[in-house]
Amino acid sequence: MNFERNILITGGAGFIGNHVIRLFVNKYPSYRIINLDALTYAGNLENLRDVEEKPNYVFEKANILDIKDLERIFNEYKIDAVIHLAAESHVDRSILSPLDFVYTNIIGTVNLLNTAKKYWKDLSGKLFYHISTDEVFGSLGEKGFFTETTAYAPNSPYSASKASSDHFVRAYGETFHIPVIISNCSNNYGPYHFPEKLIPLFINNIMHKKPLPVYGDGKYTRDWLYVKDHARAIDTIFHKGKISETYNIGGFNEWQNIELVKLLCTMMDEKLGNAPGTSENLITYVKDRPGHDKRYAIDATKISKELGWKPSVTFEEGLSETIDWYLENQQWLNHVTSGEYQHYYEQQYQNR
Ligand code: NAD
Ligand code: DAU
Repeated sequence: MNFERNILITGGAGFIGNHVIRLFVNKYPSYRIINLDALTYAGNLENLRDVEEKPNYVFEKANILDIKDLERIFNEYKIDAVIHLAAESHVDRSILSPLDFVYTNIIGTVNLLNTAKKYWKDLSGKLFYHISTDEVFGSLGEKGFFTETTAYAPNSPYSASKASSDHFVRAYGETFHIPVIISNCSNNYGPYHFPEKLIPLFINNIMHKKPLPVYGDGKYTRDWLYVKDHARAIDTIFHKGKISETYNIGGFNEWQNIELVKLLCTMMDEKLGNAPGTSENLITYVKDRPGHDKRYAIDATKISKELGWKPSVTFEEGLSETIDWYLENQQWLNHVTSGEYQHYYEQQYQNR
């Protein structure tokens, strides 16, 4: 079968990646979607059960640190576009083990760029679209927003590695004329979020009546976006974005951590039939994260005005859907927290 486009999506078994894969596979049957993922602790093929039999979907277990595999995949599938999400993504892990972030986020990205450079002799119609984060801009004071022209000032090893990868993508655009686009998004939440990050960790802990560890005084601000709206933004930028441009993605939805946690506790109590205040009693203030960024807030005017993208759900709607999803998918939570899902790959794919 001849496909209109052969799109390599890296990190497709992760939190955001599975939503991007699902959207592209279902919306564009004429595109072949090749999901490249190393299936680290954060990658889970159970996230993609509903698309794995689709004729325009292929899974390749591979590591972006393995150049031979990247070259084989570019050659075999005649890749003409890359949407690069594969990364080490958790700030706390980057504080414990910065080098893992240097390898995957920086060297892995350069490996992909080198492979594109080698295989894309004719650059027309090609695109290397890099998915990045607002954390590259560092921390805001009480006022103001990150725009596309805000200077980079990363504070954690994670954000430093993402900032570096953004710079490499830009540099390959300038030096080797690879058609590149970068987007920098705020905090995502939604189904399939690994329960080490604030929202899914706290949902899981409330379900198991475990303490809710709020870092420092809890007065840190994040700008939350529903993951399916991020996937829609990626679709929009992939199809309508201008080469060499960067786009900020966010929902103008700032919450102080402690206010968000209280909202989550109230909503969970209602859904679980608990007496009001039950979950709030689990809040425990713990030692702060080193280098903790005070506030993130995205100015998403450019993507809205130039490309016509806007979030589709309110925070209350998205959070309610998210909680319901976790309540209905406790088996998924048990699997990912036990590492059991790794056997799924062995059963489903290894002998194919
Ligand atoms: P995630 O940790 O849930 O998923 C990462 C995926 O990458 C996993 O499936 C993992 O198996 C895969 N991976 C890791 N190392 C790999 C390697 N060496 N080779 C191949 N695959 C590898 O991450 P996420 O939250 O879905 O984030 C995806 C991307 O979006 C990242 O680049 C992240 O920086 C960016 N981002 C995330 C957020 C957010 O709030 N989660 C916000 C903005 C940007
Ligand atoms: O802004 C985009 C970024 O958002 C992405 O690039 C990252 O990949 C993603 O992990 C996320 O980073 P954060 O560090 O903002 O997310 P996290 O869920 O780890 O933390 C959100 C806030 O909650 C932050 O201020 C730290 C705080 N926190 C987090 C955890 C896990 C707590 O107070 N307690 C916790 O147990």
